[in-house]
Amino acid sequence: MEDPFRTIQWMNDHIRLLDQTLLPKEERYIEIYDLSELCDAIKRLAVRGAPAIGVAAAMGVALGMLKAPAGNIEVVKGYFENISSRIAATRPTAVNLFWALDRMKEIFFANLGLNLSELQETLIQEAVSIESEDRRLCERIGMWGRDLFKDGDVILTHCNAGGLATAGYGTAIGVIRAAFEAGRNVRVYADETRPLNQGSRITAWELNKLGIPVTLITDSTAGALMQAGEINKAIVGADRIAANGDTANKIGTYSVAVLAKRHDLPFYVAAPLSTIDMKLATGKMIPIEERDPAEVTHICGNRIAPEGVSARNIAFDVTPNELISAIVTEKGVAERPFEDSLRALFA
Ligand code: MRU
Repeated sequence: MEDPFRTIQWMNDHIRLLDQTLLPKEERYIEIYDLSELCDAIKRLAVRGAPAIGVAAAMGVALGMLKAPAGNIEVVKGYFENISSRIAATRPTAVNLFWALDRMKEIFFANLGLNLSELQETLIQEAVSIESEDRRLCERIGMWGRDLFKDGDVILTHCNAGGLATAGYGTAIGVIRAAFEAGRNVRVYADETRPLNQGSRITAWELNKLGIPVTLITDSTAGALMQAGEINKAIVGADRIAANGDTANKIGTYSVAVLAKRHDLPFYVAAPLSTIDMKLATGKMIPIEERDPAEVTHICGNRIAPEGVSARNIAFDVTPNELISAIVTEKGVAERPFEDSLRALFA
């Protein structure tokens, strides 16, 4: 089945993306012509989810370079570096952003011999390829992971690792979707995922559109449902996976993994290889984003906490590898010890 939306697209001379902050109330596409607008869209989560952020970063480089001054090569290089560092400063945890910037940098330096308009076109082509590859990779992740889910499984997911977190199809949701498309009768519990409610606003919206049975729960409900035997598996996406399998994902993921362990349930992670950061030995080295406390003291712009109270808004946590049953990628399913199995996927 086709995705009922397009996360992000290159439109000849600009970027079009579905503004995810407005979902589910409004399906509005925004047209981005300027690098500052793109950086702002990433920061405020109009485009979000690690692979989608990677695509946005690549397209952001292509967009920024459309305004590069012709002439001296050193000036063009400086212009490129400035664009990359502005995009790199938007969000720190999703490694796909840095992976995409590296890939664009490689193309840029490999093609410095071209004239400016040819160079600009080459960068656009690379960004467009990153987008179309990502959708295909997600389908491969689904294909590798679908047999983890059997008829009758009731699956918990946290945050949104669906089509909107990628160029389409999704990672964790892609695996669920592949099992569903293979005719398995699966059901999903979606954590609402405070503070920004990616679960209620986006995962529930996507699954609903796909016809996959979904029930929304508050983040604190999962333990009770596991205890009652009403959830039997969990799967999440990832923002960055260290070489030993430690996985950074949306805050609250670690709690889900601990609960799954307590109830002896499998806890799976699904992500493309571009989310695996082999340069980091363990999850302790993963930079964790901390966001504006106003996202905690408010819901959808409405204050829910007393004036003047302090709040912390840590956006991601790290699940230690020993709590993870398997990591599903486009190259296959990695099992413990992840140091070996993940390295083998890159061979
Ligand atoms: O802050 P967000 O909404 O960008 O966080 C997204 C997540 O944590 C996703 O689970 C992760 O990026 C995987 S997306 C396939």
